[in-house]
Amino acid sequence: MAKIIAISNQKGGVAKTTTTQAIAAVLSGRGYKVLAVDFDPQGNLSDSVNATSDNTVYEVLKQAITANEAVQALQCFDVISANILLASADQTLAQTGKEYRLKEALEPVNTLYDYIIIDTPPSLGLLTINAFTAADEIIIPTTAGKFAVKGISELFNTVKNVKKYCNPHLKIRGILFTKFDPRTNNSKDMKMLVEKLSEALETPLFNTYIRNRVAVDEAQARSRDILTFSGCEDIAADYNKFIDEYLEREYDKKPLKY
Ligand SMILES: Nc1ncnc2c1ncn2[C@@H]1O[C@H](COP(=O)(O)OP(=O)(O)OP(=O)(O)O)[C@@H](O)[C@H]1O
Ligand SMILES: [Mg+2]
Repeated sequence: MAKIIAISNQKGGVAKTTTTQAIAAVLSGRGYKVLAVDFDPQGNLSDSVNATSDNTVYEVLKQAITANEAVQALQCFDVISANILLASADQTLAQTGKEYRLKEALEPVNTLYDYIIIDTPPSLGLLTINAFTAADEIIIPTTAGKFAVKGISELFNTVKNVKKYCNPHLKIRGILFTKFDPRTNNSKDMKMLVEKLSEALETPLFNTYIRNRVAVDEAQARSRDILTFSGCEDIAADYNKFIDEYLEREYDKKPLKY
C-alpha cells in the first residue's frame, strides 16, 4: 500500500507544487515507486512536468475513466495531471460522499506505488478536503511570510474537522520552511513564531529548510527538472536533506522534537 502524502497550505505561492515535484523526484531517485497527483485546477504541476494528457484527475473523479487510465509515465515518476476543468468539481461532486471521491479513485493504483504525493490548491475547499480524506499525512510548506504562517492555524482547523468526520488516522507530518533566507531578521522572527505555533499545535517543524534560489522559477518556466537544473544545486541538496529527515523519522521512529 502506498503512503499518501498531501502537500498543503491554503496560502498561495508557498512552494506546494515545487515541493511535490521535488520530493517525488527525490523519492523516485532513491528507488521508490512514486505517483504525483496534480489536484489543483491551475495545473502547475502538470505544466512543470509537461504532462499534457486530457485524461486528467477530473475525469477520474467523475468516474469517466479509472486512475490507471489517467496515469502518465514520466522519466522518473508517474503523474496524474489536472487542468482548469477541475475547478468545477465543486458542482459536479455536489452529492453524497463527495469528500471521498479522490480516496476511492486512488484505490485501484494504491498497491502499485510506495508513495502517492498530492499537490493541493491554495484553498481549503472541497478539493483540499478530498486530498486530506485520501491522505495518510500532510506536509505543510510555508514561507516566512506573516500571512503564510497565519494560514497554518486555519489549515489546522480543517485538518481537525477532516479527522473528525472523514479520516480519523490523518496526521500532519510537519511544517517545512521554503524559499527561506536564514539571514534576514524577518525569517528569524517567523521561524520563532512557527516554532511556538508548532508546539501549540503539537505539529513538528522539520529541521531542514529549503533555501531561496531564483533558478527554481527559471527551471519551472522551462519545464526542466529542478533537481538537475543549473543553479538549483542548493535546492536539490535541501530537498535531499529534507527526505533524509522525513525518512529517518519514519523508519527509526525517533521521538519527534515536539
Ligand atoms: N526554494 C525556492 N526559491 C525561490 N523560488 C521558489 C522556491 N520554491 C518555489 N519557488 C517559486 O515560487 C513560486 C511559487 O511556487 P509554487 O508554484 O511551487 O507555489 P505553490 O504553493 O504551489 O503556489 P500555488 O498556491 O499558486 O499553487 C514559483 O514561481 C516558484 O518557482
Ligand atoms: Mg501550486
